Amino acid sequence: MLQGIQQLIFWTGTGLIGLVSLRLAIACLRSCSRWWQESRLSRQHLILLQSQLQQSRRNFQKLGPSPAWQGTRKFQVRKIVVESTDCRSFYLVPEDEKPLPGFMPGQYLTFQLPVPGEPRPVVRCYSLSERPRSEWYRCTIKQEWGTESTPPGKGSSFFHQQVEEGDLLEVKAPAGQFVLDVTDPKPVVLLAAGIGITPLYSMLSTMLHHGWTEPVYLFYSVRDGSGHLYKQTLNDLAVQHRNFKLIVNYTAAKEDDQPDIDYHFAGRLTGELILQRLPSTNFQFYLCGPGGYVSGMSELLLSLQVPETDIHTESFGPSSRATKPRSLSENSPSTTSSSPSSMQVNFEQSGTRHHWESDAESLLDFAEKHGVVIDSACRAGNCGSCLTRIRSGKVKYTSPPGLQTESNECLPCVSLPDGELVLEA
Ligand code: FES
Repeated sequence: MLQGIQQLIFWTGTGLIGLVSLRLAIACLRSCSRWWQESRLSRQHLILLQSQLQQSRRNFQKLGPSPAWQGTRKFQVRKIVVESTDCRSFYLVPEDEKPLPGFMPGQYLTFQLPVPGEPRPVVRCYSLSERPRSEWYRCTIKQEWGTESTPPGKGSSFFHQQVEEGDLLEVKAPAGQFVLDVTDPKPVVLLAAGIGITPLYSMLSTMLHHGWTEPVYLFYSVRDGSGHLYKQTLNDLAVQHRNFKLIVNYTAAKEDDQPDIDYHFAGRLTGELILQRLPSTNFQFYLCGPGGYVSGMSELLLSLQVPETDIHTESFGPSSRATKPRSLSENSPSTTSSSPSSMQVNFEQSGTRHHWESDAESLLDFAEKHGVVIDSACRAGNCGSCLTRIRSGKVKYTSPPGLQTESNECLPCVSLPDGELVLEA
């Protein structure tokens, strides 16, 4: 009798264990199959993204940045989201509701803004701040308040104080050469300061959405918690993607900003901190922020033996601007055919004439320094806002202009005088 009960318990237990094992095995098989399908989809996404972006890049290199549409297209401001004390995101849908062309993460939109009191539309460029979507574009814009010596930004004030949901805006196609290079197999480091996060966030969300498996580091510097953009989204991405590492520093943390919760360290980003966080410096580096931050970081990376070709930068002031580290400049004033001090630049309409100065980075900078007004927006040779007629003389370009110009025209934002020069401005 006892033996019979023991046998019953034995076989019942064995059966239960078998059943549980079978269920575990089925669950395991299901999750393996789901993982395999998901990773296959991610790989397919990534391959698709790479081929799309490679094609865009090839077109860009062969044909120049031919725009996705000519001139301007009307967009409706579908939604405005307050992102921080000074920043708002504007979600833009085309008025014709046709699918939107893609763009290279890192590019910007050029707006022609009907700013009250201005005789002509004010042209401004703002980075696209989300990954490419077929229904909408997003730009996140910071209100530039100005200082004692500089007025508030015309473009940002217009967006923050005049633009409402439902308004229509004239927008040029995505443009810009500060773009993510998915053909480079190296892992990526993104270095952002303040509103400079916007094009880098577009790169980051594109990479992670398409199953990028290489490590991605984002070093994000902000003054304090009130300017910390996309905080929850970035934290969520860092939890969801093991290959994404987020390092936030507040340069002037406030009392209610919490270390280790809101930010990882206080103070400025240093080379030592970068080296502590990165396993090596063998990365592609993308930098965006104010001019001082970008030039300082570029020089820091160069001092850490990062090759110039692995440093991609864009800085901004009143408007967005693609830059290279100083040592990357292909031409410098000293290589022009006349010695800098002997060259004169004559601004015909302004009635002024000045000796060229070797520290001027472009004819546009030089003109502005001497009070000569030339329209500008991208400051990178892409939007055509600064197009100026040459009365006599020649210019040389510091980087290939994104627009074709006539032989008697130039883009002062990316050119230098090549000898004596007379401009119509
Ligand atoms: S400012 Fe855009 S081309 Fe010069």
